[in-house]
Amino acid sequence: MLQSAAPLWEALCSYKDKGVLPFHTPGHKLRGDLFPRLIEELGPGVFQLDPSDEVEDTTINHDFHRALEAAQQLAAQLFGAAYTLFLVNGTTSGLHYLLHFMEGAVAIPRFSHQAVYTGAMLSGSECLYIPAQFDPEWQIPLPPTVEALRRVAVGQSLSAAVFTHPTYYGTCAQLEELIAEVHRLGAYAFVDEAHGGHFRFSLNLPSTGLEAQADGVVQSTHKNLGSLTQTSMLHSASGEVYDLASRARQILETTSPSLVFLAVLDEVRRTLHERGQELVSNALELARSVSARLESVPGVLVLPDHLRHDPTKVVFSLRELGLTGIQLEGLLRRDYNIQVELSDYYNVIALITLGDTEERVNRLCSAVEDLARRARHLGGPPLPVHQVSYPPLPKQALSMRDAVRRQWEAVPLKAAQGRVSAAFVTPYPPGVPLLVPGEVVSREVVEYLQWCLGLGWPIRGLDGLTVSVIKDNAVC
Ligand SMILES: Cc1ncc(COP(=O)(O)O)c(C=O)c1O
Repeated sequence: MLQSAAPLWEALCSYKDKGVLPFHTPGHKLRGDLFPRLIEELGPGVFQLDPSDEVEDTTINHDFHRALEAAQQLAAQLFGAAYTLFLVNGTTSGLHYLLHFMEGAVAIPRFSHQAVYTGAMLSGSECLYIPAQFDPEWQIPLPPTVEALRRVAVGQSLSAAVFTHPTYYGTCAQLEELIAEVHRLGAYAFVDEAHGGHFRFSLNLPSTGLEAQADGVVQSTHKNLGSLTQTSMLHSASGEVYDLASRARQILETTSPSLVFLAVLDEVRRTLHERGQELVSNALELARSVSARLESVPGVLVLPDHLRHDPTKVVFSLRELGLTGIQLEGLLRRDYNIQVELSDYYNVIALITLGDTEERVNRLCSAVEDLARRARHLGGPPLPVHQVSYPPLPKQALSMRDAVRRQWEAVPLKAAQGRVSAAFVTPYPPGVPLLVPGEVVSREVVEYLQWCLGLGWPIRGLDGLTVSVIKDNAVC
């Protein structure tokens, strides 16, 4: 089939156009007029294109699986994979599928997204953490090195390793070397490419996980490539990994995946075939112009080149003007109606994608210029260097799997020290856990969380000021 086709999208539209009288699910019966307030905002198509599993094509016997397979094959071709799976529960689900049949130990950077941890937890494998390293000036996580991987893997029977490429901040590891080392250790190398789907479309961006010889890669197509939220793709380099992932999908996925979501992935893939390079290079150019303009504003610091591996994530800071990233995010939202992707103590990230235009990025730059002028009143002296450093790896008292099955109670954060966490405690974004179930709450973790709360950093896993810990503390 040709890349100029979009078999699933076309079949779905064709079913709608035929006006088939539906005596099948879903209960809205494809009517675009049942819920006027929803229709007013969403348009009728959302319902009209939402049959549960019928699509119009006599050659495929109205079978959406075959249209989906054709669509996935086209995506595999475009992204340089052997096989692709479309996902309706985000990259989270793709990571779960890749890890589902892994046994023994899985090596992951501690600075991995929660989905990697939960994937390992569900499969019952044990996580070996490659400790987080931070850039001393920017306080952003640095990708792991081969040496750090070797230190963690020594004497272990590794079934897989998962690397994040790029990190939320756009930093990238020497991925090829890491993957070669994982293969040397006889394990699968998987890549969490949630933020890197666009790499495929420009030679001026880092190489992709598949180009670096990864066995399986998951991308949030919705994050960088414009599909609807929660739609992602899992690419595998071999039939073996595809079989593992598709068997896991059969077990874990809803039996009624949204055809709208799947067909949108198909149509986005067609557009990327037609215009992906043009759209991504336009985004790259816009991002570069934003960085250059912000660099010229007194008091504004932009992530330097040696850390700016993916320039479409514009990381900048007004710390010299006394504003934390979290304050900066709040001011941009309150006073300029602009929402950035992420903020932390020092930085914010403005994500530039194929959805941006010159006019939009100009608005961002003008707002930051204006804020820098106002910072005399809003800010203060330069921010002190991070007063609380990232906590050392907590002691693990129980496996994640065991811990989430124990009885738990909520206790005030201050009283949690020495107790065993029953839940993930995760500043969000970037979604990287400070505590995973089964880990002992250390003094450093309590202090770090108190510091995050003081800055107004949203923390998932804290209910107000209480944290869930295991009732029977005898385990520690
Ligand atoms: C690095 C990373 N991996 C995985 C995920 C999960 O992706 P999704 O939201 O598509 O499930 C995210 C989401 O923020 C992420 O940042």
